[in-house]
Amino acid sequence: MRARILGAGIVGLAVAAELRRRGHEVTVIDPAPGSGASFAAAGMLSPSAELWHGEAALLELGRESLALWPDLADALGVPLHATGTLLVGHDAGDRQQVARQVALLERHGAAVEWREEGVALLPDEASVDARAVVAALLDRVPVVPADPGGHHDVTVLATGAWLPPPYSSMVRGVRGEILRLRSDDPPRRTVRGWVYGEPVYLVPRPTGEVVVGATSEEHDAAPVVTAGGVARLLAAARLLWPALDRAELVEAVARDRPGTPDNLPLVGPVADGVVLAAGHYRHGVLLAPLTARLVADHLETGAVRAPLDPRRLLEGAR
Ligand code: GLY
Repeated sequence: MRARILGAGIVGLAVAAELRRRGHEVTVIDPAPGSGASFAAAGMLSPSAELWHGEAALLELGRESLALWPDLADALGVPLHATGTLLVGHDAGDRQQVARQVALLERHGAAVEWREEGVALLPDEASVDARAVVAALLDRVPVVPADPGGHHDVTVLATGAWLPPPYSSMVRGVRGEILRLRSDDPPRRTVRGWVYGEPVYLVPRPTGEVVVGATSEEHDAAPVVTAGGVARLLAAARLLWPALDRAELVEAVARDRPGTPDNLPLVGPVADGVVLAAGHYRHGVLLAPLTARLVADHLETGAVRAPLDPRRLLEGAR
């Protein structure tokens, strides 16, 4: 099969790599590979820490995809940081929030270990440097800036928070601002915290870099870093991990997460010869390997996962 993939973020590239692995011909088109949401992503492989009420289907998908990550990371030569996630609450209300999250996770059978009041460990979670993953995929999958034309059997739209007409209304941008700091005393594992009611996370890399994220804002303008967003993230992160006071602030980035009306990704056919691999919202890095498999399986067998079938939203899009 000859596939044309629009979008060289982590999802489009993972789909391309999987199709090539299965012997298909692939052309990936993107004028700025890896520059969208993948560029900002902290790389949390956190189906449980990122779980929210009413999102049980996402938890199952996340667990399934998390199980695929060790092999993918191995194949790409990118280290997986598999030390778990610590849930931490700062004040009494935040500690209650941790307790609510733990209760939600226990109802869904997730592995959770209480450490002390307001602190719990999710031992199965991990993280990965999303930029390193994209770089490794780009080494394996050539990308062209514009459509060279020629015959293709299918087009896969993996353009993240922006889909071309008539599918544009199926995704919306949810701005996230994220900081990168370099610390001489980083946390050992991902910290998922609440500080005075505001969520924040710290994702350490083996190099001493700590990714602090993220704001979340519905908006329809270009994503820019705001003074208020940076101030809130730094204040919350320093309260959870005071050593960050000494850290070098290396970078602040804002990108749009590709949100969907039901927070579930769009993976499957929307028209003859058109397949979506988009709308991964807060979970693009986590769900990339599963999405790659599902798209390849669909192209080979016609199989579609019902909860992810984009046609559920098609009437709305029209
Ligand atoms: N999964 C992290 C975020 O969306 O901010």
